[in-house]
Amino acid sequence: MFRTHNCGELRMDHVNQSVSLSGWIQKIRDKGGMIWVDLRDRYGITQLIFEEGKSSPELLTEVQKLGREFVVKVSGTVIERLAKNPQIPTGEIEIKVKELVVLNPSKVPPFLIEDDTDGGEDLRMKYRYLDLRRQVVRKNLELRHKLNRATRNYLDDQGFIDVETPVLIKSTPEGARDFVVPSRMNPGEFYALPQSPQTFKQLLMVSGLDRYYQIVKCFRDEDLRADRQPEFTQIDCEMSFVEQSDVLNTFEGLVKHLFKEIKGVSLENFPLMSYADAMSSYGSDKPDTRFKMLIKDLTTASQGKGFNVFDQAEVVLGICVPGAANYSRKQIDALTDWVRRPQIGAKGMVYVKYLEEGYKSSVNKFYNIEDLASWAELTEASQGDLILILSGPKEPTLKAMGALRLELGRQLNLLDPDQFNPLWVVDFPLLEWDEDTQRYHAMHHPFTSPKVSDVELLEDQPGAVRANAYDLVINGVEIGGGSIRIHDRELQQTMFRHLGFSEAEAQAQFGFLMQAFEYGAPPHGGIAFGFDRLCSLFGGVDSIRDFIAFPKNNAGRDVMIDTPSTISTEQLEELKLSLK
Ligand code: AMO
Repeated sequence: MFRTHNCGELRMDHVNQSVSLSGWIQKIRDKGGMIWVDLRDRYGITQLIFEEGKSSPELLTEVQKLGREFVVKVSGTVIERLAKNPQIPTGEIEIKVKELVVLNPSKVPPFLIEDDTDGGEDLRMKYRYLDLRRQVVRKNLELRHKLNRATRNYLDDQGFIDVETPVLIKSTPEGARDFVVPSRMNPGEFYALPQSPQTFKQLLMVSGLDRYYQIVKCFRDEDLRADRQPEFTQIDCEMSFVEQSDVLNTFEGLVKHLFKEIKGVSLENFPLMSYADAMSSYGSDKPDTRFKMLIKDLTTASQGKGFNVFDQAEVVLGICVPGAANYSRKQIDALTDWVRRPQIGAKGMVYVKYLEEGYKSSVNKFYNIEDLASWAELTEASQGDLILILSGPKEPTLKAMGALRLELGRQLNLLDPDQFNPLWVVDFPLLEWDEDTQRYHAMHHPFTSPKVSDVELLEDQPGAVRANAYDLVINGVEIGGGSIRIHDRELQQTMFRHLGFSEAEAQAQFGFLMQAFEYGAPPHGGIAFGFDRLCSLFGGVDSIRDFIAFPKNNAGRDVMIDTPSTISTEQLEELKLSLK
C-alpha cells in the first residue's frame, strides 16, 4: 500500500498511529543529528523526522541520498511536534519514520517548487508539469474545477442540457480569424475550428432542445493579451421562447449562484447600462464602476474663447481626479506622456488645478475664472481636485479618456480587488463601420437581431440601429456576451446583405442555417461566458493563463511541447499541401 493517509490529513488525533505516506520531497533540513524532511502531495505538506541514535543507520544513509522532488514512500508513527507550525494544518504533528522507499529519484528541478519561486515565466511554462506542483498554481486549477461544478449544478437545476457540438466545422464569422485543419480525404478543402458553437446552438433550438449549455473549447486566431488565449473555454448557452430580460435573469442567477457558492458573496441585482451611456461616461463598453471619476462633456463650455485646439475639436472631455490638485509638474508631465503613447493616441492634455487660492491651469491665457469654475461645476470638482481634459474626434477621445480614467484609478488605488461590480451593458449598435474595409461589420455577430423599433432604420441609417445584444461586465472585464437571435430567414438574409455578403456568398456560408429557419425556428437567444476570465476574476489575478493547465504564450506557442511545429514532407504530401 502506498499510503494510509495523504500529506494534508494528519492531526493531533492521529498521534501514536502507524501511517504510510507517499509524495515528493519539498525540503530537507539537516541540523546535524536531526533531519527534517517536508513531504508534499496535492493535499498538503507533512513533516518527517529522522534522528541519529534513534533511526537506524541504514535509514539515515538513505535519507542522506534524498534530493528535492524525489518521490518516496514512508512508514512510521505520528508524534506530537516539539516546535509546532501554526501556518499549516498538519503543523502540530510529524512522522517518526521507520521505513523509507525511494519510488523514483528526481533531477534537481530547474526552479524552486514553492509559492515564491525563482523561475521566470518562460522556464515555468517549459516545465509546466513542475509548475503545476506549486500550491499557488494548483489552487487555481481547483478553483476552476469548483466553478465548473457549480455552473453545471445551476444549469442542470434550470433544465439546461449539455450537448457536445463538433470541433471540425465550417468557418463562422465572429470577428477573429479561424484556425483551419486540412482534410486528407477532401484534398484542397479545410475544416475550421469553432470560434464558438454559435450556429450549432441555434440549430439545437430549431431542433426543440429548448435549453442548451456546454462548457466548451473555442479557437480564435487573434492577437493575444493577458485575457486572451487562442484556445479558451466558454460557458455557452442558448434558450428558446425568451426575450432579453429572460436571458439576463437566468444568467444573473448563474453569476449570483457562483459568487455565493465559491466566494460566499451575495451580489445585489445587476444594474443595466446602455452602450451609449457606458461610452459617454466611462469611455468604454466595459466600464469599471468600482470608482466614479466619470467623463464629462466640456465641449460647449470650452469652445469660442480663442483656444484653437478646443475650438477645432469635435469634443472636449474632462474628468475630475479627486485630491490631486497638488500634483507636481513632473506628475502631470508623466500623465501627459502616458496619454500621448500611440496605444492611447491623445495629442496632449490640459489640466486645471482647483487650489485654495483659485484655479491654476495650462490654459489660463484663454479662460477666465468663470470659465474654469464652469468646468469645475460640470466635472463636479471641489477644492483640492485636479481636472484633466482631452479633446479631439469623439470616439478616439472618449476611448483615450476612458483609458486615462482607468490608469488614474490604478495609480490612486481605487480598484478594490475585494469589490465586485457586475453590470449588464445593453443596447449595443447592431453594426460597426470599419474604415479599413469600408463596410459595416456586425458588432456582436451576424445572427444578432435588431431592435424591432429600429428595423426601419436599417436601409438609410444602418449605423443607428440598436441590437438586442448584451454583455456582462464585472470590474471592467467583459465576462460574457450574447443576444436575441434572428429566427426569420428574410431578416437574416437582409442582415447578410448589409454586411456586404452577396446572396450567393450568404447561401454558400450560411445556407444551412437559413434553410433551418424555414422549418419552424422558435424565437431564441443566449449568451456565452468567458470561463477562463471568470476563473481569473474569482482568483483575483489579471492573467487567464494562470487558470489554464497548459496555456500558450503571447506568441501562441506551447513552449513545453514546442508547438506549432513543422510536419513531415510525407504528411504534407498526404494532405496535398506544399509549402512553396
Ligand atoms: P463573444 O465573442 O463575445 O460571444 O465571446 C463570449 C466571451 O468569451 C470570452 N472570450 C475570450 N476569452 C479568452 N480568450 C479569448 N480569445 C476570448 N474571446 C472571447 C469573453 C467573451 O465575453 N457566440 C457568442 C456568444 C453568444 O452570442 O451567445 C460569442 O462567442 O469573455
